[in-house]
Amino acid sequence: MKNNWIHIVSIVMLIFGIWAGIADATIVGSPHDLSPDQDGSMACQYCHTPHQALAGTPLWNHKLSDKIYHIYWSTSLDAEVGQPTGANKLCLSCHDGTVALETTLQNSQGSTFIPPGRTRLGTDLSDDHPVSFVYSEDLSIEDTQILSPESLPPKINLDQYGELQCVTCHNPHNNSFGHFLVIPNQGSDLCLKCHNLKGWTNTVHESSTALIDNADDDYLRNSEFRTVADNGCSACHRPHSSGEPQRLLHFKEEENNCLNCHNGQVAATDLAAELNKLSGHKVRNYEGIHDLKENINSAEEHVECVDCHNPHALINTPAQAPLAPDVLQMVSGVTAEDNFIEQVIYEYEVCFKCHGSNPNRVDATVHRVITQMRGSLKAGAI
Ligand code: HEC
Ligand code: HEC
Ligand code: HEC
Ligand code: HEC
Ligand code: HEC
Ligand code: HEC
Ligand code: HEC
Ligand code: HEC
Repeated sequence: MKNNWIHIVSIVMLIFGIWAGIADATIVGSPHDLSPDQDGSMACQYCHTPHQALAGTPLWNHKLSDKIYHIYWSTSLDAEVGQPTGANKLCLSCHDGTVALETTLQNSQGSTFIPPGRTRLGTDLSDDHPVSFVYSEDLSIEDTQILSPESLPPKINLDQYGELQCVTCHNPHNNSFGHFLVIPNQGSDLCLKCHNLKGWTNTVHESSTALIDNADDDYLRNSEFRTVADNGCSACHRPHSSGEPQRLLHFKEEENNCLNCHNGQVAATDLAAELNKLSGHKVRNYEGIHDLKENINSAEEHVECVDCHNPHALINTPAQAPLAPDVLQMVSGVTAEDNFIEQVIYEYEVCFKCHGSNPNRVDATVHRVITQMRGSLKAGAI
């Protein structure tokens, strides 16, 4: 009911041009001004029409896409994500790249498409932030790192069905913060309105002023923010077109999400050099095996940076052995009594995840490697 009322008011306001004044100010000259010279002369018409608009929409004029989408999924996702609904379909009518920009309900002659590249999301949305799901109070109880939707500020809105949509993060009429975002995302301000990661506040990645200029990562080097802190979550995640769909990470190779900076170019510690040494945890040898939700008793043999480090909870203050150093804060492990724990107290508890002698584990010890190491010692490596 409320929605119908808003639409009637909107339609009237649109016809009398009251809204036009408001929207004009920020659409004209923006990437959403599809007028020939971006002079605002046709600022609304590829999206809206006062007559013969699509029923049940805000006077929608653009031809909708009829594609079926590949949607976001991950082993840690609690939300029930479905095919795009509501305003998402309006955005995707141009941004999936299958309907021409000028193709409206009245004119099917369009021939220009969203250019290939970052703005063309395509029909594979599995590498984009999940959308078109109900962001409910229950979801925030199920996933304790998600804030209650009640706490959302006025500029961040769910639709009338309580669903998170493109327009929750974007306002297609206002480009004053760039990327048509509803609020600026410096320091991941936008992300933090919904995500409440355990341990994040005051961590090195939240607060480091190191420059990302030399990162081995095109996405980071092209970012409008220059420091690790200002990129925030985007140091490792991307809201769209991520290299690894699950959890939206920059790179498919797990360790590259760390080595892009920990190669002596952004962070001071050069782990890339460490990996070239004879002995070590050869994280580069494993791909697609580690999973955030893995069962350590049945997981196939592997080791990744995030098996030992929690990327959201890294601080660097020394601790006295055998207590776990702070770089192992909030990492899971196995106790001397062979119990799985979510957060280790002692350093060895991290190692016991893979090197303990639990007979239930597939490969309890890494004999092969130890043998190799002895071999290299015999050969006079040291
Ligand atoms: C690139 C596409 C695009 C352009 C260009 C555009 N709009 Fe919109 N407009 C939308 C979308 C998408 C929605 C639905 C937003 C939602 O559901 O939150 C919308 C909604 C609206 C609404 C309804 C608001 C509401 O909350 O229901 C009005 C009024 C409106 N637009 C006016 C305009 C005017 C005036 C212009 C031109 C100056 C314009 N729009 C240009 C995409 C566009
Ligand atoms: C009528 C077609 C059309 C519709 C509908 C449309 N867009 Fe766009 N959008 C464009 C075009 C064209 C560009 C510029 C693409 C380019 O140059 O790469 C663009 C660019 C963008 C950008 C990048 C802006 C920047 O600063 O580079 C964002 C973000 C965006 N659109 C979001 C949305 C969202 C969200 C919706 C739905 C609410 C939407 N768009 C609906 C045509 C559309
Ligand atoms: C959870 C917030 C969020 C949601 C939901 C979201 N976006 Fe974005 N989007 C962003 C952010 C943040 C950026 C800025 C670029 C960046 O940080 O990589 C962005 C950038 C874009 C761009 C510009 C391309 C780029 O990589 O710079 C387009 C186009 C876009 N979004 C369209 C959409 C569409 C269409 C939807 C719905 C299917 C959508 N977005 C849903 C947060 C979101
Ligand atoms: C309006 C609220 C909102 C905003 C803003 C938002 N998110 Fe989300 N995000 C969610 C919800 C809700 C989920 C689903 C959580 C779940 O299913 O447990 C989610 C899921 C995710 C996931 C996938 C988690 C998984 O387990 O697969 C990632 C990664 C993510 N968001 C990162 C970001 C980043 C980075 C930003 C900022 C660019 C951002 N989000 C902005 C609400 C939001
Ligand atoms: C230093 C890199 C890094 C930063 C910075 C980072 N993340 Fe992550 N995040 C990861 C990695 C890697 C994973 C997957 C961990 C795994 O597979 O064990 C992850 C997992 C997640 C997940 C999955 C759910 C879960 O239970 O953890 C969400 C949601 C998420 N990140 C959101 C965010 C948000 C929001 C921010 C910013 C406030 C952020 N991340 C900052 C690297 C990072
Ligand atoms: C965007 C760049 C960037 C990415 C990506 C990144 N880091 Fe960092 N990391 C830093 C910076 C900068 C510091 C602060 C210390 C410094 O300047 O050397 C830091 C600090 C740390 C520390 C604390 C110890 C120390 O040297 O201060 C650990 C541990 C760490 N990172 C691990 C990781 C892991 C694991 C990943 C991948 C999941 C990762 N980092 C991804 C830039 C990054
Ligand atoms: C997630 C599983 C995992 C965890 C946790 C883990 N390791 Fe390992 N470790 C391995 C694997 C797999 C190898 C075999 C070498 C390789 O593939 O990198 C290995 C090899 C080793 C080696 C032999 C290195 C060589 O070059 O031959 C030593 C020593 C070692 N680990 C010590 C530790 C210590 C100490 C800890 C705790 C701080 C630890 N490991 C935690 C999986 C793990
Ligand atoms: C087998 C577990 C394990 C793996 C795998 C692992 N680390 Fe570590 N890392 C540790 C431990 C334990 C420490 C603390 C060492 C100490 O206190 O002397 C540490 C320390 C660090 C530090 C701080 C170094 C310093 O000098 O202060 C950084 C940065 C770091 N690791 C990043 C990474 C990155 C990036 C990867 C993946 C390429 C990675 N680690 C893989 C266990 C691991």
